[in-house]
Amino acid sequence: MIKTKLIRINKFRPEPEKIRYAADIIKRGGLVAFPTETVYGLGANAFDENAIRNVFKAKGRPADNPLIVHIAELKDVHRLAKKPPKIAKLLMERFWPGPLTIVLKKKKIVPDIATGGSNTVAIRMPDNRIAISLIKSVGVPLVAPSANISGKPSPTRAKDVLEDLKGKIELIIDGGKTSIGIESTVIDMTVMPPIILRPGVVTLEAIEKLIGKVKLLSFTVKEEKISISETDSKNFLKSPGLKYKHYAPNAEVIVVEGKAKDVYKKINLLADEALKNNKKVGIISFRKDHKYKNCYTAFAGSNAKVVAKRLFTILREMDKKGIDIIISESLSGKGIGLAVSDRLKRSAGYNIIKV
Ligand code: TXA
Ligand code: MG
Repeated sequence: MIKTKLIRINKFRPEPEKIRYAADIIKRGGLVAFPTETVYGLGANAFDENAIRNVFKAKGRPADNPLIVHIAELKDVHRLAKKPPKIAKLLMERFWPGPLTIVLKKKKIVPDIATGGSNTVAIRMPDNRIAISLIKSVGVPLVAPSANISGKPSPTRAKDVLEDLKGKIELIIDGGKTSIGIESTVIDMTVMPPIILRPGVVTLEAIEKLIGKVKLLSFTVKEEKISISETDSKNFLKSPGLKYKHYAPNAEVIVVEGKAKDVYKKINLLADEALKNNKKVGIISFRKDHKYKNCYTAFAGSNAKVVAKRLFTILREMDKKGIDIIISESLSGKGIGLAVSDRLKRSAGYNIIKV
């Protein structure tokens, strides 16, 4: 057991002495959880293999699931990656700092353990002053997966990190609730057309407007098994993180898809059945006019941006309430809605009922 310290840092004006304190821990090979604009990350020196090994250990993360390398300045890209294509540079100029992770061919300097043995490296420049000051103060890029136990919803508050990683890491920086709430968009720029491996708030539409056609890794569900189309199976293996269970609370999660009226009816039926079996039911709703009886209902917002901010908190809070089964309405898959739907469906392990 490690003693985990928690310090509060001002996200608008990070106190330099506190940043130095955190940076020293990372320089000595320790692990520090810090806020980004998306979710909290678990930071370690990207060139320290031993520290990286401890990141995998603390999270219980499978060794073949690569980490994102976080940078503070554009020039750091060239330290880590081989000649990025022109359109990748366009993305960096337009969306960095911000919630977009770009996969490029890696240079030797990036340890294989950080990339799960892959010859590519995922890079992102976060839009958060604490994160940027910390990276600058350490003086090297930082690997930072989401600071949760592997498989659990990503942390959007310092207390979520504490819940998952207490006793396993040296320090947690509390910089308040993260502003976006879901992880960055991940795009693979080593192939043509580029492929969005994980949707986020930097939307497919916004990316295509800038660089033209991109592909989206798509999933279909057959007989409760995730299956992927022939062409996508290759890419599926490219982002090994995709094959693992994600964002899963302890409760069973079901997503009901269809017209609002039918969804409402079906959820009421499912909830009645579960209640009869003495189960504690939680419902996630995106419509204020849907009132469910005898269930704990979380109105997650009707706008995808707002839902993104609240979703992981709702999943974690439902676990704390001891809820056995979470039934969720579904959202439109356009724009940010695509990213939120993706997280919701994954948290359900693709347990989706169509009505
Ligand atoms: O918003 C975020 O991206 C947060 C914050 C902390 O920056 N980080 C985050 O990291 O979500 P993580 O490790 O939880 O998710 C990284 C995702 C995984 O799905 C992983 O498989 C994929 O990015 N990834 C990382 N490196 C990759 C690579 N070289 N090729 C393909 N996919 C990669
Ligand atoms: Mg994660």
